[in-house]
Amino acid sequence: MITRRGLMTGLGAGAVASFIPSLSLANRDAVPLSMPPLLDATDTGAFRLTAQSGQTNFAGRAASETWGFSQPYLGPTVRIRNTQEVQAEVENSLSEEISVHWHGMLIPGDVDGGPHQTIAPGSTWAPVLPVNQPAATIWFHTHIHGATARQVYNGLAGVMHLSDGLDDERGLPATYGVDDLTLVLQDRRFDRRGRMDYSLSMPEQMMGFLGDTMVINGQIGATAVVPNGIVRLRLLNGSNSRIYTLSMSDARPMHLIATDNGLLDRPIELTGLSLSPGERYEVLVDFGDGNDVSLISQQSPNTDMMGGGMMGGRPASGPPFEVLPFKADTSIQARITTLPDDLGGSRPALDSARAGQRRVTLDMGMGSMMMRRNGNQFSINGRPFDMNRTDFTVQQGTIERWSVSANMLMHPFHIHGVTFQVLSENGAAPAPQNTGWKDTVLVNGRTDLLVRFDQPASADLPFMFHCHILEHEDGGMMGQFAVV
Ligand code: C2O
Ligand code: CU
Ligand code: CU
Repeated sequence: MITRRGLMTGLGAGAVASFIPSLSLANRDAVPLSMPPLLDATDTGAFRLTAQSGQTNFAGRAASETWGFSQPYLGPTVRIRNTQEVQAEVENSLSEEISVHWHGMLIPGDVDGGPHQTIAPGSTWAPVLPVNQPAATIWFHTHIHGATARQVYNGLAGVMHLSDGLDDERGLPATYGVDDLTLVLQDRRFDRRGRMDYSLSMPEQMMGFLGDTMVINGQIGATAVVPNGIVRLRLLNGSNSRIYTLSMSDARPMHLIATDNGLLDRPIELTGLSLSPGERYEVLVDFGDGNDVSLISQQSPNTDMMGGGMMGGRPASGPPFEVLPFKADTSIQARITTLPDDLGGSRPALDSARAGQRRVTLDMGMGSMMMRRNGNQFSINGRPFDMNRTDFTVQQGTIERWSVSANMLMHPFHIHGVTFQVLSENGAAPAPQNTGWKDTVLVNGRTDLLVRFDQPASADLPFMFHCHILEHEDGGMMGQFAVV
């Protein structure tokens, strides 16, 4: 049986929430899921966001103090053209410094919004973003070193569509919120009074935060109402550390059409899709049979470590849980009823002939969780992140082969300012879902990448590379590089 209660198993969370919505399969008169508001800047080439605090009443419980961009929790979906110089403006009305990183945008380091580009309380950052890349679903979030996990948890994140306006020609669903759904997946925890809680138990200091309640687009217990035809799901894992292994509850296929940085050449039929923090995938699901069905997930594989085994890669234990129920509404005319076979995108096949080799080891202190008390536990190549150290410099326009290895846990590895090709995973061909253009990939053992460095970044405003489990990133599993 699938219940949200399933989320509880696997990790004895320090504070067990007293209220866990268990949406039974029979209860489908639930609230319809809403999309983030659409902020369409394709005509103006300009948009403005205000980082603010506010009150959010998650599913009618006591109000939580939350943060968002131009709204109380999370931000709007910002739509811009994929080839457009965009004037962004971000005002910080909060009382601490933030930054706004455009995760997935291939732009120079001086507008990337990493931890060096802080926006002080009361001030406004107004970068011009020279966007020129294939259409993609990307996102933006705060990136203050040591505070990213808490600030993102509070709500400082949002989705961005880089649009080329050609989806109709491709035969892809493209009506926002109708047959083109933007879904931000987050797990959260609530205290006894129903307020969103971010406190880390000892295991979570090592593993990363795991909530007990699914929150989709800032909503708990909502149902996505869809036409009975083909629907596009733009999935973002905006969780701090939870890794989802998604499938449909009746095992119907999900047709993968896009990875982090753009469309594939043609759809790939999948029954399971892993979605780690920071990753985006777009899938088509056919609701043409009119049946109600749910998106479900397996337990986060990293929770297995708590079962005694310290190695990643073992099957997740515990029952699957419901991520999002769907209700097909026959009164909504489906615009798309057949799958396109040519998406017009691409899969990377970079030339590795002259690629330099780099090793990246994602390290955690061995063994004891107590080590956290004795200083820094997380590092890359043995060195915890240092704002004042440039780890290396890459020559602009070159391609490098990065061999990324992870010990103990699985780590979603992300590089700023680039898109890459996954060459191999543990010596074998990459999983089908990793054959498109990526900027974040879940490393479970060893993953080899071909990375192309087209965007410049100075040593003063360098690009980051890090684990996207935010507690690991804040704890030092991050480095920085210049591209000159
Ligand atoms: Cu989405 Cu450096 O992060
Ligand atoms: Cu990024
Ligand atoms: Cu990690």
